[in-house]
Amino acid sequence: MKKILITGGAGFIGANFIYYMQDRHPDYRLICVDSLTYAGNMSTLEKAMAKDNFVFYRTDICDRQAIYEIFEKEQPDIVVNFAAESHVDRSIENPEVFLDTNIKGTMVMMDAARKYGVERYHQVSTDEVYGDLPLDRPDLFFTEETPITTSSPYSSSKAAADLLVQAYHRTYGLPVTISRCSNNYGPYQFPEKLIPLMIANALAEKPLPVYGEGLNVRDWLYVEDHCKAIDMIIHDGVVGEVYNIGGHNEMKNIDIVKIICKALGKSEDLITYVTDRKGHDMRYAIDPEKIHRELGWLPDTMFADGIQKTIQWYLDNRPWWEQIISGEYMDYYEKMYGDR
Ligand code: NAD
Ligand code: DAU
Repeated sequence: MKKILITGGAGFIGANFIYYMQDRHPDYRLICVDSLTYAGNMSTLEKAMAKDNFVFYRTDICDRQAIYEIFEKEQPDIVVNFAAESHVDRSIENPEVFLDTNIKGTMVMMDAARKYGVERYHQVSTDEVYGDLPLDRPDLFFTEETPITTSSPYSSSKAAADLLVQAYHRTYGLPVTISRCSNNYGPYQFPEKLIPLMIANALAEKPLPVYGEGLNVRDWLYVEDHCKAIDMIIHDGVVGEVYNIGGHNEMKNIDIVKIICKALGKSEDLITYVTDRKGHDMRYAIDPEKIHRELGWLPDTMFADGIQKTIQWYLDNRPWWEQIISGEYMDYYEKMYGDR
């Protein structure tokens, strides 16, 4: 029986991780800490809340006093830090909150982990810390040795956090691991991100805003496979190590949008090419050899199945995302896409 403190558990990947862990380790106590920003949603955690060994704290990870109180009370064995500002476009509009949560919040979580003692502090990072790859070099992949080179305020804040995590390991001996995953998709993803945004817009017969020419490549992984990898790393990963996570599933944005149109029976005429994202990374591609070799991790869900499951989930759970895309999301959408 372990006690795992999970930050950002009301968001997309954190919530999927909570459900994964409740299923695989029903005897573990899971302690979720989330400040419920625009991206956090309590309705996502409804089923998790029904379990006795689950507890939720609405707390900002930058709030040192409150975080120390939670550690004092709960004495977690393992910390998994998902909490972050995660959307690149928002970071271009307003970098400050990204630096606060993603860097300072990580520092507070690690200070608490040092003060109260944990067997593992795991930092959930991203492949975006490696910058991007050219489209004409399909032989190149991000390995754990690829130098850190960032493009957006979001990726810079995640990279800064990673460096801080490595510094806490070397300087204070904090037992850390870091994972850097490629683009996730699946249930409960906030509809500002490519796949759920295109599903929601297509269902409403609204324009499908593809940035630039839609030729940028992302390396897609079904969210449950990311959760499985983190479960393996926190139990069997080597302290001080970085693990890349990805399933060798590179796709052009435009092809993803066309798959969604086809699956929903919508016309490709809805596709609208809009002004490109500033500093837009061209291609991400993870080499997952290390986690496969050392921990035996392999993804279970192929993209062809995962995308159909995901589309079906959004069809079956309309109230979840329809509630999100009303209200303040409409102001966000108008601001970001209004005159693009
Ligand atoms: P998300 O935006 O869906 O969820 C983030 C969660 O963190 C929300 O519940 C939010 O309320 C919470 N949060 C934000 N600021 C907080 C704060 N100051 N204190 C407490 N809680 C706070 O994000 P996601 O897509 O689930 O990403 C989770 C993590 O995985 C992030 O660290 C992200 O960098 C990383 N990641 C994401 C992807 C992806 O494709 N989505 C891929 C690789 C890595
Ligand atoms: O690679 C991992 C990263 O993946 C994570 O660290 C981030 O938290 C996560 O948001 C994601 O970043 P991206 O910028 O790749 O994801 P996003 O869904 O915003 O965009 C995916 C691609 O689709 C990207 O090339 C931009 C493009 N796009 C996105 C949106 C929202 C469009 O063409 N139109 C859109 O409306």
